[in-house]
Amino acid sequence: MIFEKKINLTFNKKNKISTAYINIPIKGIKLMNNPKTLSCNFNKNNNEIILTKNETGQPLIIQANGNTKLYRFTLDKELIEKIGYKKNQLVKIDITEEEIKINFTQEEKMSKIISIINFKGGVGKTTTTHCIGSGLTLFNKKVLLIDTDPQASLTFTALNETPKLTIKDLLVDQKNINDIIIETENFDLIPSNLILNLAERQLTSKFGTEKLLKKALNKIEKTYDYIIIDCPPSMNLFTINALFASDYVLIPCETELLALDGLNLLIQTLEQTEEELDVKIKNTLVLPTKLDKRKKVSKEIYEHLLENFKTTKTTIRTCSKLNLLGLNKNSIYQIDSTCTAAIDYKNLVGEIIEWDC
Ligand SMILES: Nc1ncnc2c1ncn2[C@@H]1O[C@H](COP(=O)(O)OP(=O)(O)OP(=O)(O)O)[C@@H](O)[C@H]1O
Ligand SMILES: [Mg+2]
Repeated sequence: MIFEKKINLTFNKKNKISTAYINIPIKGIKLMNNPKTLSCNFNKNNNEIILTKNETGQPLIIQANGNTKLYRFTLDKELIEKIGYKKNQLVKIDITEEEIKINFTQEEKMSKIISIINFKGGVGKTTTTHCIGSGLTLFNKKVLLIDTDPQASLTFTALNETPKLTIKDLLVDQKNINDIIIETENFDLIPSNLILNLAERQLTSKFGTEKLLKKALNKIEKTYDYIIIDCPPSMNLFTINALFASDYVLIPCETELLALDGLNLLIQTLEQTEEELDVKIKNTLVLPTKLDKRKKVSKEIYEHLLENFKTTKTTIRTCSKLNLLGLNKNSIYQIDSTCTAAIDYKNLVGEIIEWDC
């Protein structure tokens, strides 16, 4: 019997020797004829703890855990440290008549996928996508940016030439994703163009079209550390596709009066969509943009955002250098690494790298 299970080890600080518990279903114990004690061996090569009925190895106490139909093993903390256990780690448990193998090998790394969403136009979605993308590469991360906006501003800021294949070819014509990705100096890109407007009409009549992007990204999710999706300023099929594929949602929000209008509605809509379509987003955060603390209204809106929404720690101040994005296809860090936008976005990137750690 082989199964996968996320385990949390609880270290018992009261005991002289710290211990940890792994819960294994009663079915597994029954297969081993319900032994009261087991020996525990550590196979360093395979990153495995092996529990056997043999006398050799470190003795192990087994306790039934109340009525929960689980057994509890007491393990030495030193052993757990050797195995490189990570909190909430997915382990493979293989149970036979003779032994229980618990394999702690880490799963291959998957990309973190972040969607940049706000139904309002001009709040800094494309700018944020570009600056996070190129910022992550400064930390040696491999990054893919995806333009899902028919306005194609992100594509314009990154490419000199008109792309032959775009996101439309990926989603509508199901072309190979590797043929669509374009390498740029700073990051890889799936471009867009105006034809995407027509594509939406072609797709909406079909069933299951909200998962097209997620399926396409499955093929490359081990290639990139981060995939960032620049969304159009509306809740259309492409925003829904982005949501389906995402682990995180970042909502750039201008610190201006009109910006608050609709923010509650946006968050409600995102939550409803998550629930109705069973999308699993780990975190949704508001990113205050175009902050100018010299202006009373900007400061007040910022404070309102802090009080009422889950926000990033970093804020993005106004910076005129951002208007130069697209010129020579340089990143903000190449344009001026000391400008406020370069500093703020670099801080934001640092924060993003910390997510999940
Ligand atoms: N922090 C900032 N300071 C100054 N200007 C900024 C800042 N962020 C973005 N801008 C400027 O605001 C304008 C709109 O930015 P951007 O295109 O990133 O918004 P958007 O949300 O993607 O818009 P759309 O909804 O049309 O796609 C651009 O001219 C950009 O240079
Ligand atoms: Mg945009």
